[in-house]
Amino acid sequence: MNETNKPVHGMWTSRWVFILAATGSAVGLGNIWRFPYITGEYGGGAFVLLYLACIALIGVPIMIAEVTLGRRGGLSPIHSMGRLAEQSKVSRRWKGIGYLGALSGFLILSFYSVVASWALIYVWEAVSGLFRGMTAVQSQANFEAMQANPWLMLGSHSLFMVLTMGVVALGVKRGLERAVEVLMPLLFVLLLVLIGYAATTPGFAEGVAFLFAFDFSKLSGEAVVIALGQAFFTLSLGMGAIMAYGAYMPREIKDKKTGRARPVSIGSSVVIIAALDTLVALGAGLAMFPLLFTGNLEPAQGPGMMFVTLPLAFGQMPGGVLFGSLFFVLVVCAAWTSSISLGEPMVAWLVERGKSRWAASLLVGGAAWVLGVGSVLSFNLWKEHTFLMGTFFDNIEFLSTSILLPLGGLLIALFAGWVMKETQVRKELAMKSFALYMVWRALVRIFSPLAMIAVIAYALWSATSG
Ligand code: TRP
Repeated sequence: MNETNKPVHGMWTSRWVFILAATGSAVGLGNIWRFPYITGEYGGGAFVLLYLACIALIGVPIMIAEVTLGRRGGLSPIHSMGRLAEQSKVSRRWKGIGYLGALSGFLILSFYSVVASWALIYVWEAVSGLFRGMTAVQSQANFEAMQANPWLMLGSHSLFMVLTMGVVALGVKRGLERAVEVLMPLLFVLLLVLIGYAATTPGFAEGVAFLFAFDFSKLSGEAVVIALGQAFFTLSLGMGAIMAYGAYMPREIKDKKTGRARPVSIGSSVVIIAALDTLVALGAGLAMFPLLFTGNLEPAQGPGMMFVTLPLAFGQMPGGVLFGSLFFVLVVCAAWTSSISLGEPMVAWLVERGKSRWAASLLVGGAAWVLGVGSVLSFNLWKEHTFLMGTFFDNIEFLSTSILLPLGGLLIALFAGWVMKETQVRKELAMKSFALYMVWRALVRIFSPLAMIAVIAYALWSATSG
């Protein structure tokens, strides 16, 4: 195979754009909505420590593996895996990693858009001052009223899907690259403003203590698996999003000083992405918990924390209309740069099969939109129609994030660790330190696969034991 990727879809302008785009994919609802509330449920500090360990020991190695497969393959995940299987002289069935990823991306996109669309509605509610002086009962009622209104949710789900697939349709350079260059700096600024504000509230010290004080008595086996799953989801692993982005990553860049070509290392880029993602998750916690403590609200609220409890805090604080609006704009931006990475692998695959980008985006977005309608209805008309794991939404979410993603991660780790020729892997990685390379190899061959098996086993066990 040729050593330079044929830029079918275009390449990122620089290594930094790759880092920004992958961070955009990673930072999303997982960081701002899910991380704070599960940290609240599992008791704070000790859970945070566990989560950090999972990011470092399992997230980073699998992410390195996924980027490596992507850059080596140079195409959409499905075709990349086909190429790599051929090169490694193994069964073309390994292409299944690509198909599996496309399926999970499609499922996740369908409900991710629905949750993101709540944030879109909340931008509007915050701007219009709806939260001012609200009581806890009113806030709960407000959230339930939104969920009970299928037309409202359908409208904002449609808008979010158009925003997402519009960017994908514009392509790697004019769409994805431009979107992350605008939205990511905005996101970091907004987050800093909100943390700055939280630091002025009386509950700040308590919030910081909650996040960083380690109380190991609260830890359980369950917390370990939850932390693992969260580390995995928040880094966008296991479905080919990161593989697709890796395919657009340059192999070499010109050194500005010497003018000579220098290999672009995958490992150091991934460490930066994981660090940024972690900083945003912790930052979201730092911005939210002090507000809860200041308002005497419970940190163990569950999924309603962002949509029920936080508005209460915004309703009570001075400048709450401004900071509340900024907060939900932040959530929308974060979700937007994530959702485009859910759509890109499938669209890239269709483009390789001869479709135009616009047609492919319309097709993928349209289909995910239709499936998303099921998630919209899960909160109102179909609320009582439960099967297996609960509502339609619950089932799609469980199947994709608890089963398909870890399965994808397992196969990716096995392929990079056991199937691919070692010389190829090492060359693609361009790691400077041999010792670090050996550590990565050990983690990706043994540790990561075992961790993924544990996550899947736990999911199946908890599903069957009711
Ligand atoms: N990482 C994103 C978040 O935390 C969600 C996401 C985007 C994702 N692309 C993904 C998750 C691919 C798994 C796989 O919100």
